[in-house]
Amino acid sequence: MATSMYSIPGSPMASQAPAPAAPAAPVSTARTVNAVLAESQVQDVIDELERDLVGLAPVKQRIRDIAALLVIDKLRANLGVQAAAGADKPSLHMCFTGNPGTGKTTVALRMAQLLHRLGYVRKGHVVSVTRDDLVGQYIGHTAPKTKEVLKKAMGGVLFIDEAYYLYRPENERDYGQESIEILLQVMENQRDDLVVILAGYKDRMDTFFQSNPGMSSRIAHHIDFPDYQQDELLQIGERMVNGMRYTFGPGTREVLADYLARRKQQPHFANARSVRNALDRARLRQASRLYADGDRELTAEDLTTLLPEDLLASRVFAQTPAA
Ligand SMILES: Nc1ncnc2c1ncn2[C@@H]1O[C@H](COP(=O)(O)OP(=O)(O)OP(=O)(O)O)[C@@H](O)[C@H]1O
Ligand SMILES: [Mg+2]
Repeated sequence: MATSMYSIPGSPMASQAPAPAAPAAPVSTARTVNAVLAESQVQDVIDELERDLVGLAPVKQRIRDIAALLVIDKLRANLGVQAAAGADKPSLHMCFTGNPGTGKTTVALRMAQLLHRLGYVRKGHVVSVTRDDLVGQYIGHTAPKTKEVLKKAMGGVLFIDEAYYLYRPENERDYGQESIEILLQVMENQRDDLVVILAGYKDRMDTFFQSNPGMSSRIAHHIDFPDYQQDELLQIGERMVNGMRYTFGPGTREVLADYLARRKQQPHFANARSVRNALDRARLRQASRLYADGDRELTAEDLTTLLPEDLLASRVFAQTPAA
Protein backbone atom coordinates (compact mmCIF):
# COMPACT_ATOMS: atom_id res chain seq x y z
CA MET A 1 0.00 0.00 0.00
CA ALA A 2 1.36 3.40 -0.94
CA THR A 3 2.51 5.56 1.91
CA SER A 4 0.43 8.46 0.68
CA MET A 5 -2.73 6.45 1.42
CA TYR A 6 -2.12 7.26 5.05
CA SER A 7 -1.60 10.96 4.69
CA ILE A 8 -4.32 12.88 6.35
CA PRO A 9 -6.39 15.43 4.43
CA GLY A 10 -6.04 19.01 5.54
CA SER A 11 -2.41 18.56 6.43
CA PRO A 12 0.49 19.77 4.29
CA MET A 13 1.33 16.20 3.22
CA ALA A 14 -2.00 15.65 1.58
CA SER A 15 -2.37 18.88 -0.34
CA GLN A 16 -1.77 18.70 -4.05
CA ALA A 17 1.29 20.89 -4.20
CA PRO A 18 2.64 20.83 -0.70
CA ALA A 19 3.52 24.32 0.39
CA PRO A 20 6.35 24.60 2.89
CA ALA A 21 4.80 24.04 6.30
CA ALA A 22 3.58 27.42 7.45
CA PRO A 23 4.88 28.34 10.90
CA ALA A 24 2.20 29.35 13.39
CA ALA A 25 4.52 32.01 14.77
CA PRO A 26 5.29 35.06 12.63
CA VAL A 27 8.34 34.84 10.40
CA SER A 28 11.16 35.54 12.76
CA THR A 29 14.53 37.16 12.36
CA ALA A 30 15.44 36.74 16.03
CA ARG A 31 19.11 36.23 16.76
CA THR A 32 19.03 35.85 20.54
CA VAL A 33 17.35 33.40 22.88
CA ASN A 34 15.54 36.23 24.62
CA ALA A 35 14.25 37.60 21.33
CA VAL A 36 12.75 34.20 20.48
CA LEU A 37 11.25 33.92 23.98
CA ALA A 38 9.74 37.40 23.75
CA GLU A 39 8.40 36.88 20.24
CA SER A 40 6.86 33.49 20.95
CA GLN A 41 5.72 34.14 24.54
CA VAL A 42 7.07 30.73 25.41
CA GLN A 43 8.49 32.01 28.66
CA ASP A 44 4.92 32.61 29.89
CA VAL A 45 4.06 28.96 29.38
CA ILE A 46 7.17 27.84 31.23
CA ASP A 47 6.53 30.29 34.07
CA GLU A 48 2.91 29.15 34.40
CA LEU A 49 3.98 25.54 34.47
CA GLU A 50 6.44 26.37 37.22
CA ARG A 51 3.86 28.33 39.20
CA ASP A 52 0.68 26.29 38.74
CA LEU A 53 2.01 22.78 39.17
CA VAL A 54 3.21 21.53 42.52
CA GLY A 55 6.33 19.34 42.55
CA LEU A 56 7.17 17.50 39.30
CA ALA A 57 10.71 18.88 39.32
CA PRO A 58 12.11 16.31 36.85
CA VAL A 59 9.16 16.84 34.49
CA LYS A 60 9.57 20.61 34.56
CA GLN A 61 13.28 20.23 33.88
CA ARG A 62 12.64 18.03 30.84
CA ILE A 63 10.18 20.55 29.48
CA ARG A 64 12.68 23.36 29.89
CA ASP A 65 15.23 21.20 28.05
CA ILE A 66 12.83 20.57 25.19
CA ALA A 67 11.96 24.27 25.04
CA ALA A 68 15.68 25.12 24.91
CA LEU A 69 16.19 22.69 22.05
CA LEU A 70 13.34 24.21 20.09
CA VAL A 71 14.42 27.78 20.72
CA ILE A 72 17.96 27.03 19.55
CA ASP A 73 16.49 25.20 16.57
CA LYS A 74 14.62 28.39 15.66
CA LEU A 75 17.79 30.47 15.91
CA ARG A 76 19.56 27.98 13.67
CA ALA A 77 16.77 28.23 11.14
CA ASN A 78 16.93 32.01 11.25
CA LEU A 79 20.61 31.86 10.34
CA GLY A 80 19.89 29.42 7.59
CA VAL A 81 21.64 26.49 9.24
CA GLN A 82 20.07 23.45 7.63
CA ALA A 83 20.16 19.94 8.92
CA ALA A 84 20.76 17.11 6.46
CA ALA A 85 17.84 16.47 4.12
CA GLY A 86 15.02 14.57 5.81
CA ALA A 87 16.26 15.46 9.27
CA ASP A 88 15.13 19.06 9.17
CA LYS A 89 12.58 19.01 12.00
CA PRO A 90 13.36 17.51 15.37
CA SER A 91 11.15 14.59 16.29
CA LEU A 92 8.84 15.66 19.08
CA HIS A 93 6.76 12.58 19.77
CA MET A 94 6.76 11.82 23.46
CA CYS A 95 5.87 9.25 26.04
CA PHE A 96 4.54 10.25 29.47
CA THR A 97 4.68 7.46 32.00
CA GLY A 98 3.35 7.52 35.53
CA ASN A 99 0.57 6.41 37.80
CA PRO A 100 -2.95 7.83 37.53
CA GLY A 101 -3.39 11.43 38.58
CA THR A 102 0.27 12.41 38.35
CA GLY A 103 -0.40 15.29 35.94
CA LYS A 104 0.19 13.72 32.52
CA THR A 105 -2.88 15.18 30.84
CA THR A 106 -2.30 18.56 32.44
CA VAL A 107 1.30 18.68 31.23
CA ALA A 108 0.28 17.52 27.74
CA LEU A 109 -1.99 20.57 27.46
CA ARG A 110 0.89 22.87 28.43
CA MET A 111 3.22 21.10 26.05
CA ALA A 112 0.77 21.65 23.19
CA GLN A 113 0.66 25.34 24.04
CA LEU A 114 4.44 25.54 24.03
CA LEU A 115 4.76 23.75 20.69
CA HIS A 116 2.16 26.02 19.20
CA ARG A 117 3.84 29.21 20.38
CA LEU A 118 7.11 28.08 18.88
CA GLY A 119 5.38 27.33 15.60
CA TYR A 120 5.84 23.55 15.68
CA VAL A 121 2.13 22.88 15.34
CA ARG A 122 -0.44 25.10 13.63
CA LYS A 123 -3.24 24.99 16.18
CA GLY A 124 -1.95 23.68 19.49
CA HIS A 125 -5.06 21.77 20.52
CA VAL A 126 -4.98 18.36 22.22
CA VAL A 127 -7.10 15.45 21.05
CA SER A 128 -7.21 12.87 23.83
CA VAL A 129 -8.11 9.31 22.91
CA THR A 130 -7.93 5.70 24.08
CA ARG A 131 -7.93 2.43 22.19
CA ASP A 132 -11.70 2.49 21.63
CA ASP A 133 -11.47 5.75 19.70
CA LEU A 134 -8.88 4.31 17.33
CA VAL A 135 -9.73 0.65 16.89
CA GLY A 136 -12.93 -0.73 15.38
CA GLN A 137 -14.83 -3.88 16.32
CA TYR A 138 -15.10 -5.26 12.80
CA ILE A 139 -12.90 -5.72 9.81
CA GLY A 140 -12.51 -2.50 7.84
CA HIS A 141 -13.55 -0.23 10.70
CA THR A 142 -10.16 0.50 12.22
CA ALA A 143 -8.48 2.44 9.41
CA PRO A 144 -11.31 4.97 9.04
CA LYS A 145 -11.56 5.40 12.81
CA THR A 146 -7.84 5.98 13.25
CA LYS A 147 -7.70 8.35 10.28
CA GLU A 148 -10.65 10.33 11.58
CA VAL A 149 -8.88 10.83 14.91
CA LEU A 150 -5.66 11.79 13.14
CA LYS A 151 -7.52 14.30 11.04
CA LYS A 152 -8.95 15.94 14.16
CA ALA A 153 -5.54 16.02 15.81
CA MET A 154 -3.61 17.47 12.85
CA GLY A 155 -2.03 20.77 13.77
CA GLY A 156 -1.91 19.80 17.41
CA VAL A 157 -1.19 17.00 19.82
CA LEU A 158 -2.68 13.52 19.76
CA PHE A 159 -2.67 12.20 23.33
CA ILE A 160 -3.16 8.43 23.50
CA ASP A 161 -3.96 7.32 27.04
CA GLU A 162 -2.97 3.77 27.97
CA ALA A 163 -1.47 3.38 24.53
CA TYR A 164 -0.36 -0.21 25.23
CA TYR A 165 -3.94 -1.42 24.87
CA LEU A 166 -3.47 -0.90 21.14
CA TYR A 167 -1.31 -4.00 21.13
CA ARG A 168 -2.91 -7.29 22.17
CA PRO A 169 -0.56 -10.09 21.22
CA GLU A 170 -2.83 -12.69 22.83
CA ASN A 171 -5.39 -12.04 20.12
CA GLU A 172 -3.97 -12.91 16.71
CA ARG A 173 -6.61 -11.03 14.76
CA ASP A 174 -6.57 -7.92 16.89
CA TYR A 175 -7.24 -4.75 14.90
CA GLY A 176 -5.03 -2.68 17.20
CA GLN A 177 -2.03 -3.56 15.07
CA GLU A 178 -3.67 -1.93 12.07
CA SER A 179 -4.11 1.27 14.02
CA ILE A 180 -0.49 1.16 15.20
CA GLU A 181 0.71 0.87 11.61
CA ILE A 182 -1.26 3.90 10.49
CA LEU A 183 -0.04 5.87 13.48
CA LEU A 184 3.56 4.91 12.72
CA GLN A 185 3.34 6.18 9.16
CA VAL A 186 1.74 9.45 10.13
CA MET A 187 4.17 9.94 13.01
CA GLU A 188 6.98 9.67 10.49
CA ASN A 189 5.56 11.48 7.47
CA GLN A 190 3.58 14.24 9.10
CA ARG A 191 5.64 14.96 12.13
CA ASP A 192 5.92 18.59 11.10
CA ASP A 193 2.25 19.02 11.92
CA LEU A 194 1.35 16.44 14.54
CA VAL A 195 2.93 15.50 17.83
CA VAL A 196 1.87 12.21 19.39
CA ILE A 197 2.08 11.73 23.15
CA LEU A 198 1.63 8.19 24.46
CA ALA A 199 0.69 7.93 28.12
CA GLY A 200 0.30 5.18 30.68
CA TYR A 201 1.90 3.05 33.35
CA LYS A 202 5.66 2.73 33.01
CA ASP A 203 6.00 -1.06 33.15
CA ARG A 204 3.27 -1.68 30.60
CA MET A 205 4.66 0.98 28.31
CA ASP A 206 8.11 -0.63 28.47
CA THR A 207 6.62 -3.98 27.48
CA PHE A 208 4.70 -2.29 24.67
CA PHE A 209 7.88 -0.69 23.31
CA GLN A 210 9.73 -4.00 23.46
CA SER A 211 7.14 -5.57 21.18
CA ASN A 212 6.79 -2.47 19.01
CA PRO A 213 10.31 -1.26 18.22
CA GLY A 214 8.94 0.89 15.38
CA MET A 215 6.93 2.88 17.90
CA SER A 216 9.79 3.05 20.34
CA SER A 217 12.18 4.45 17.75
CA ARG A 218 9.79 7.26 16.87
CA ILE A 219 9.47 8.50 20.43
CA ALA A 220 12.13 11.10 21.07
CA HIS A 221 11.29 12.07 24.64
CA HIS A 222 10.40 9.80 27.52
CA ILE A 223 9.19 11.66 30.57
CA ASP A 224 8.42 9.89 33.82
CA PHE A 225 5.90 11.39 36.25
CA PRO A 226 6.70 10.44 39.84
CA ASP A 227 4.02 9.86 42.48
CA TYR A 228 3.46 12.88 44.69
CA GLN A 229 4.81 13.02 48.22
CA GLN A 230 2.38 13.54 51.06
CA ASP A 231 3.28 17.25 51.44
CA GLU A 232 2.90 17.81 47.70
CA LEU A 233 -0.57 16.25 47.76
CA LEU A 234 -1.53 18.59 50.56
CA GLN A 235 -0.21 21.60 48.63
CA ILE A 236 -2.13 20.46 45.56
CA GLY A 237 -5.24 20.25 47.74
CA GLU A 238 -4.71 23.80 49.01
CA ARG A 239 -4.37 25.12 45.48
CA MET A 240 -7.47 23.30 44.35
CA VAL A 241 -9.47 24.69 47.28
CA ASN A 242 -8.30 28.21 46.47
CA GLY A 243 -9.08 27.66 42.82
CA MET A 244 -12.62 26.62 43.70
CA ARG A 245 -12.96 29.74 45.91
CA TYR A 246 -13.23 27.84 49.17
CA THR A 247 -11.08 27.99 52.28
CA PHE A 248 -10.22 25.57 55.04
CA GLY A 249 -11.83 26.23 58.40
CA PRO A 250 -9.93 25.64 61.67
CA GLY A 251 -8.39 22.17 61.63
CA THR A 252 -9.54 21.22 58.12
CA ARG A 253 -6.06 21.26 56.64
CA GLU A 254 -4.86 18.78 59.26
CA VAL A 255 -7.81 16.51 58.60
CA LEU A 256 -7.06 16.60 54.87
CA ALA A 257 -3.46 15.61 55.63
CA ASP A 258 -4.74 12.68 57.71
CA TYR A 259 -7.21 11.78 54.97
CA LEU A 260 -4.46 11.72 52.33
CA ALA A 261 -2.15 9.58 54.48
CA ARG A 262 -4.93 6.99 54.84
CA ARG A 263 -6.23 7.23 51.29
CA LYS A 264 -2.74 6.63 49.92
CA GLN A 265 -2.70 3.15 51.42
CA GLN A 266 -6.03 2.12 49.98
CA PRO A 267 -6.64 0.59 46.56
CA HIS A 268 -7.07 2.80 43.48
CA PHE A 269 -5.26 5.74 44.95
CA ALA A 270 -4.79 8.20 42.09
CA ASN A 271 -2.50 10.96 43.33
CA ALA A 272 -3.78 14.46 42.53
CA ARG A 273 -7.00 13.04 41.11
CA SER A 274 -7.81 11.50 44.51
CA VAL A 275 -7.22 14.89 46.11
CA ARG A 276 -9.68 16.49 43.69
CA ASN A 277 -12.26 13.77 44.32
CA ALA A 278 -11.93 14.14 48.08
CA LEU A 279 -12.47 17.88 47.82
CA ASP A 280 -15.43 17.49 45.49
CA ARG A 281 -17.08 15.18 48.02
CA ALA A 282 -16.25 17.58 50.85
CA ARG A 283 -18.05 20.29 48.90
CA LEU A 284 -21.10 18.06 48.58
CA ARG A 285 -21.13 17.45 52.33
CA GLN A 286 -20.64 21.13 53.04
CA ALA A 287 -23.61 21.91 50.80
CA SER A 288 -25.81 19.32 52.55
CA ARG A 289 -24.74 20.67 55.92
CA LEU A 290 -25.73 24.22 54.97
CA TYR A 291 -28.87 23.08 53.20
CA ALA A 292 -30.08 21.40 56.36
CA ASP A 293 -29.93 24.77 58.09
CA GLY A 294 -32.88 26.06 56.10
CA ASP A 295 -33.70 29.15 58.16
CA ARG A 296 -30.25 30.47 58.85
CA GLU A 297 -28.94 33.42 56.86
CA LEU A 298 -25.72 32.14 55.33
CA THR A 299 -22.69 34.39 55.29
CA ALA A 300 -19.97 34.41 52.66
CA GLU A 301 -17.80 32.69 55.24
CA ASP A 302 -20.36 29.89 55.73
CA LEU A 303 -20.58 29.40 52.00
CA THR A 304 -16.85 29.22 51.37
CA THR A 305 -15.57 27.30 54.40
CA LEU A 306 -14.89 23.59 54.43
CA LEU A 307 -14.97 22.23 57.98
CA PRO A 308 -13.20 19.12 59.32
CA GLU A 309 -16.53 17.26 59.49
CA ASP A 310 -16.94 17.67 55.71
CA LEU A 311 -13.94 15.37 55.30
CA LEU A 312 -14.29 13.24 58.42
CA ALA A 313 -17.56 11.76 57.16
CA SER A 314 -15.57 9.97 54.44
CA ARG A 315 -15.43 6.17 54.38
CA VAL A 316 -11.64 6.51 54.31
CA PHE A 317 -11.67 7.26 58.05
CA ALA A 318 -13.75 4.18 58.76
CA GLN A 319 -11.34 1.84 56.97
CA THR A 320 -7.63 2.38 57.56
CA PRO A 321 -5.79 3.73 60.52
CA ALA A 322 -3.27 6.42 59.56
CA ALA A 323 0.29 5.32 58.88
N1 LIG B 1 1.42 19.04 40.10
C1 LIG B 1 0.15 19.38 40.17
N2 LIG B 1 -0.20 20.54 40.76
C2 LIG B 1 -1.49 20.90 40.84
N3 LIG B 1 -2.52 20.17 40.37
C3 LIG B 1 -2.23 19.02 39.76
C4 LIG B 1 -0.90 18.56 39.62
N4 LIG B 1 -0.91 17.37 38.98
C5 LIG B 1 -2.19 17.09 38.72
N5 LIG B 1 -3.00 18.08 39.17
C6 LIG B 1 -4.47 18.08 39.09
O1 LIG B 1 -4.91 16.75 39.33
C7 LIG B 1 -5.89 16.34 38.43
C8 LIG B 1 -5.43 15.10 37.67
O2 LIG B 1 -4.34 15.43 36.83
P1 LIG B 1 -4.18 14.84 35.35
O3 LIG B 1 -5.53 14.59 34.76
O4 LIG B 1 -3.27 15.72 34.60
O5 LIG B 1 -3.46 13.49 35.70
P2 LIG B 1 -3.16 12.24 34.73
O6 LIG B 1 -1.77 11.82 35.03
O7 LIG B 1 -3.50 12.61 33.34
O8 LIG B 1 -4.15 11.18 35.31
P3 LIG B 1 -4.81 9.89 34.61
O9 LIG B 1 -3.72 8.92 34.41
O10 LIG B 1 -5.79 9.46 35.67
O11 LIG B 1 -5.43 10.38 33.34
C9 LIG B 1 -6.17 17.54 37.55
O12 LIG B 1 -7.29 18.18 38.10
C10 LIG B 1 -4.94 18.40 37.67
O13 LIG B 1 -5.24 19.75 37.53
MG1 LIG C 1 -5.05 11.85 32.10
